[in-house]
Amino acid sequence: MSKFIIEESPCLKGKTRVSGSKNAALPILAASLMARKKCVIRDVPALTDIFVMQNIIESLGGKTEWDKKTETMSVIAPDAGRLDADYELISKIRASFLILGPLLARFKKVRTVLPGGCAIGSRPVDLHLKGLAALGAEIELEHGYVTATAKRLSGVEIYLDFPSVGATENILMAAALADGQSVIRNCALEPEITDLANFLVSIGADISGAGTDTITVNGVESLRGGEYTIIPDRIEAGTFMAAACARPGGDIVLENAVTEHLRPVIAKLREMGAEISDNNGMMRVQSPDAGLRSTDIKTLPYPGFPTDMQAQLLALLSMARGRGTVVETVFENRFMHAAEMKRMGADIKVESRTAAVNGVDRLTGCHLKATDLRAGAALIVAALGASGQTEISDIYHMERGYDRIDEKLRQLGARIIRVE
Ligand code: UD1
Repeated sequence: MSKFIIEESPCLKGKTRVSGSKNAALPILAASLMARKKCVIRDVPALTDIFVMQNIIESLGGKTEWDKKTETMSVIAPDAGRLDADYELISKIRASFLILGPLLARFKKVRTVLPGGCAIGSRPVDLHLKGLAALGAEIELEHGYVTATAKRLSGVEIYLDFPSVGATENILMAAALADGQSVIRNCALEPEITDLANFLVSIGADISGAGTDTITVNGVESLRGGEYTIIPDRIEAGTFMAAACARPGGDIVLENAVTEHLRPVIAKLREMGAEISDNNGMMRVQSPDAGLRSTDIKTLPYPGFPTDMQAQLLALLSMARGRGTVVETVFENRFMHAAEMKRMGADIKVESRTAAVNGVDRLTGCHLKATDLRAGAALIVAALGASGQTEISDIYHMERGYDRIDEKLRQLGARIIRVE
C-alpha cells in the first residue's frame, strides 16, 4: 500500500496550477451519455474517480479516449442503452449514481447499484429518486439495485427538501430530455451545478437559472456533441490555500483559481490573519508571520462554507492561537480526521456535529491514516505545520480527488514523498 512521508517542511512558497474540478467533471462525463455525437471535455483532472467513471461509460457500451498530456477526455455515448452497469465498477464510486438521470432520459430504462453508506455518513439518495419519480419514472428498489423505467418523462415542478448537489444534477440531466418544462426549486447553487448546466446548454439543452435556487429546464428532443472546458477545482484550490497557511511566512500563487467560488474560504482565512489577493486570475495567499488566530466555522450548502474544506480548516485551527469551533451541518459523521489530528497533539473535542478546538503551539508528526478524501488532505495540511516526520497511509483516498498533490506540493517546497 502506498503512503506519503512528509518531513518537517519549510513554509510553502512558489506557484502552482489548480486542476479542473472533479465534482464538475464527474456529472459532465455522466451527462455526455445523453449526447448523440462526440463530446470532448477539457481540463478533466487525472484522478481515480474520473477513470472509474470512464470505465463505467465503456462498460455501458460508450467509447472514450483520454489524452493525458492535455487532460482531455472524449466520449462517444452508446446508441442503445445497456440495462446493467457493471456492479464492481459502479460500487467503487458514489458519483456513479449520476448515470441514473442521463440513462433514464436517453434510453427510458436503467438499472444501477443503490449506493450504501460511506465514511462521512449514510448519504441517502431519496431526493434523487423522488425527483425522477416526479418526472414520470417508475422506481423499483430490489436486492441493492435501483431500476428506473419510464415510457416518457414529462416536465414538472419539483421542490427539493434539501439543496442536494447530486439530486439537483440527476434531476437536471433527466429534465433536459423530458417533454415540456421542469422547474427545480430549492436546488443546489454550487458552481459545479452551473458548470453542468453550461455544458448541457453548450450541447443543445434549454436551461436557465443555474446558480440560483430555481432552475428552469425546457426539455429538448436530443442533445448534440461538442467541446467543453471544466471549471477549476475550488476544493483543490482551497486545500492549497490552507496548506500555504500551515506555517507562518507561507506565500504562494495559485493559477486557475476562481475567487468568486472561494469567497467563504477566503473570508475565513482572512479572519485567521491570512492575506489573499487576486491579480488577473492569479490568487496570492500569504500566511501571517505572527501565526494564525482562531475562528468559528459552520459548513453549509453553497455559498456557505463548503463541507469539503472543513477538515483542512480544522487542521489549521488546531495550530492557531485561541479557541474556535467547527459545526458540520451537511454530513452527520464528518470528524473522523479529528481523532488522527489528536494523535498529533491537537486539542479537539467532538460532540455530535460540533468540534471545539484549542490551538496548540505545535503539532508533532506521527503515523496517520487517511479515512476519506478530504480528511486525508487535512492530514497533509497538519503535517506541513507539524514538527518531525509524518507518515500517512491509505493515500488512495487522496488519489480519488487530488491530481498529483505530492508533485504540486514539492513544487512549493514541501518535503513530501510517495512510497510504495
Ligand atoms: C457532493 C460532492 C461532495 C460534497 C457534497 C456537499 C460530488 C461528486 N460530491 O456530494 O464532495 O461534499 O456534494 O457539498 O459532487 N441527502 C439526502 N438525500 C438525498 C441526497 C442527499 O438526505 O437524496 C443529504 C446527504 O445525506 C447529505 C446532504 O444531503 O447530508 C448533502 O448531500 P449532497 O449535496 O447530495 O452531496 P453529494 O451530491 O453526495
